[in-house]
Amino acid sequence: MGLYGDRVLPVVIDRVCASGIFTRWRERACAGLAGTVVEIGFGSGANVPFYPAEVELVYAVEPSARALSLAAPRLARSATRVVVAGGDAQSIELADDSCDAALATFVLCTVPDPARALAEVRRVVRPGGSLHFLEHGAADRVGVLALQHLLDPLEVRLAGGCHLTRRPLELVRAAGLEVEWHESGRARGPAPWSQFTVGVARVP
Ligand SMILES: C[S@@+](CC[C@H](N)C(=O)[O-])C[C@H]1O[C@@H](n2cnc3c(N)ncnc32)[C@H](O)[C@@H]1O
Repeated sequence: MGLYGDRVLPVVIDRVCASGIFTRWRERACAGLAGTVVEIGFGSGANVPFYPAEVELVYAVEPSARALSLAAPRLARSATRVVVAGGDAQSIELADDSCDAALATFVLCTVPDPARALAEVRRVVRPGGSLHFLEHGAADRVGVLALQHLLDPLEVRLAGGCHLTRRPLELVRAAGLEVEWHESGRARGPAPWSQFTVGVARVP
């Protein structure tokens, strides 16, 4: 990936994504998680402070060694056990039905093939388990959407493959997951990055 992708970008993502303006959204995404959880695109562990006490074990799937090292202070302050389980959400190194839930925040935008990643979530989460998600995506305002399409090629290059115009709810539904609840809205911040969707979907 080069110096920028390996060393600089994980720090930028940590500063932006773990900032306090997302606290309310992360709290909502993590509420209700329990038991064994696989977190895809774990990054620098920005969700760690929001894991409920009922979470016993988290399998972290994350390709960036630098991002994982940035997670250390959050992990040191947390009582939750976190074990790294490979680096590709499209091919999760866990057995079928081995998790009670999955957590995905700001990662379906970046994984090269989100449908494959969600198929893997379905495979490793037991029937009746859940996917908790928080994603940014295509704006509901036509003008902002047009701007997102313009910016997308640059975003892909500068933000490690992140796309602005994906539709997380449609991806989750297309994977055969049953959306139990969701909320879409505008977060604080620049409009092309601020259409958020948070929710929980059930594995049938
Ligand atoms: C925008 S960051 C979000 C990090 C974290 N989930 C958060 O909420 O702050 C996207 C993360 O997805 C990771 N990622 C990229 N490709 C991936 C893949 N194929 N499988 C799993 N994670 C991936 C990146 O390394 C990065 O840490």
